[in-house]
Amino acid sequence: MRILVIGGGGREHAIIRKIKENPEVSAIYALPGNGGIAADAYCVDVKATDLEGIKAFAAGHPVDYAVVAPDDPLAAGCVDMLEGMGIPCFGPRANAAIIEASKVFAKDLMKKYGIPTARYETFDDMGKALAYLEDAPIPTVIKADGLALGKGVIIAQTREEARAAVVSMMQDKQFGKSGERIVIEEFLEGPEVSVLSFTDGKTIVPMVSSMDHKRIGDGDTGLNTGGMGTIAPNPYYTPAIAKRCMDEIFLPTVAAMNAEGRPFKGCLYFGLMICQDGPKVIEYNCRFGDPETQVVLPLLESDLLTVMRAVTEERLDETEVKFADKSACCVILASGGYPGAYPKGFPMDIPADVLPHTYVAGAAMKDGQLVTAGGRVLGVTAVADDLPKAIEEAYEMAGRVRFEGAYKRNDIGARALQALGSKQTEE
Ligand code: AMP
Ligand code: GLY
Repeated sequence: MRILVIGGGGREHAIIRKIKENPEVSAIYALPGNGGIAADAYCVDVKATDLEGIKAFAAGHPVDYAVVAPDDPLAAGCVDMLEGMGIPCFGPRANAAIIEASKVFAKDLMKKYGIPTARYETFDDMGKALAYLEDAPIPTVIKADGLALGKGVIIAQTREEARAAVVSMMQDKQFGKSGERIVIEEFLEGPEVSVLSFTDGKTIVPMVSSMDHKRIGDGDTGLNTGGMGTIAPNPYYTPAIAKRCMDEIFLPTVAAMNAEGRPFKGCLYFGLMICQDGPKVIEYNCRFGDPETQVVLPLLESDLLTVMRAVTEERLDETEVKFADKSACCVILASGGYPGAYPKGFPMDIPADVLPHTYVAGAAMKDGQLVTAGGRVLGVTAVADDLPKAIEEAYEMAGRVRFEGAYKRNDIGARALQALGSKQTEE
């Protein structure tokens, strides 16, 4: 089988490595892939958002199955387009990808179907939004409606900050059209859990839970990033919480999308907050998370391509999806300066024994040498029998990857370890 994978980050690298384990796979094309992915797939210089380019490539090459990984092409209808060409795909159609592409849609869906989430109001008029803020509880959370490269959420600690966020989105158009409508919502507190799931629109199978670390600095300080590291499973996701999530969130969401005539097929990602009064949805994503995928897929024991094809063919109910009873930790190495401006083009040295555990996000091949080419450069994932070992091994390996200015957080998994510690004391 010849597989087309749309995307070019660490998440796509993890997906490609796992798909490659299937002996029926004879070729993988990555559009655009990256310098590191080139070791595992044929990379073709077509952007993930270039639907015309993707169409031309798919028309000219023998593609048996496609995986569309990033949010933008999903929201733009890449799956609809490829299916129209007779290519079966993993990923939702545009009418279901809206669950991520419009926060107003997602919030209204949750309200209509009683799915727990933060209380909110939506606005398309700046004056009304500013008037509402006059006596809104502080802190408050301002969200641009549309996709904003993960940057469209502002937690305002003061009324002044809240006003500034509204003005920058609605008047200064900081996120372009994405900010023409906004959501202002209640600030929630509690540990966050990411749950990725496979769903074919009838059955939903949650994957092992995980925890992202979004801030740039140790102790969750500093600016937001695309994610500086992950661990799985997430100790806050207890069996009791998992049951509540299934009954109150996962199954109702699948049913709600069907009731709206927007059946969701693919990977549905639940960003959850475990609040005092139970789990609530912070966000939906219509795709695998990054860097969650880099800890979740290494723990998958079942064959990924088999599961993906079962989703496409709506046979998930008869397909085994099994995860190892182990732990994983992924430490991201970023370019110095990220998430601000950063220099690139530095040669990278990845020891041979670390390479199979490395998922490359932002690197290019230049004169036969891998060089840095992005903010988040790569992630190193260790799988071990328990979380402390996984963390130790991930840091040991990440410490041996070299490029100028390499930056990493030093506390990936620390909060999870604390939670595990307090759980054991309670027991
Ligand atoms: P999102 O882009 O929707 O994932 O939001 C980014 C981050 O903002 C989340 O991972 C949370 O840490 C935080 N966040 C979003 N919504 C809320 C909320 N209502 N209350 C508290 N934190 C939030
Ligand atoms: N790690 C969060 C995301 O993929 O959006």
